Amino acid sequence: MMKITVCIGSACHLKGSREIVERLQALIIKQNIADHIELKGTFCLGNCAKEGVSIMIDDQYFNVSKENIEHFFNEEVLIRLKAQ
Ligand code: FES
Repeated sequence: MMKITVCIGSACHLKGSREIVERLQALIIKQNIADHIELKGTFCLGNCAKEGVSIMIDDQYFNVSKENIEHFFNEEVLIRLKAQ
């Protein structure tokens, strides 16, 4: 099971974390991988100064935006999942 945690703290909320969660949910459904992914929200990850919304895959930090979330999903989520 892969764990994806999206920061919904106030800074990330302003940068669009809700939309990031919605897009991830849609991509997960589209790829039919809901059984393999645990998608959660979390309070501030301590990365507010970085550009974009803070997100974690398991224990690794990333920053994403609505412009690159689909690319991120393909490159990081799908490829890692296949490698598992
Ligand atoms: S609010 Fe998201 S990292 Fe701080």
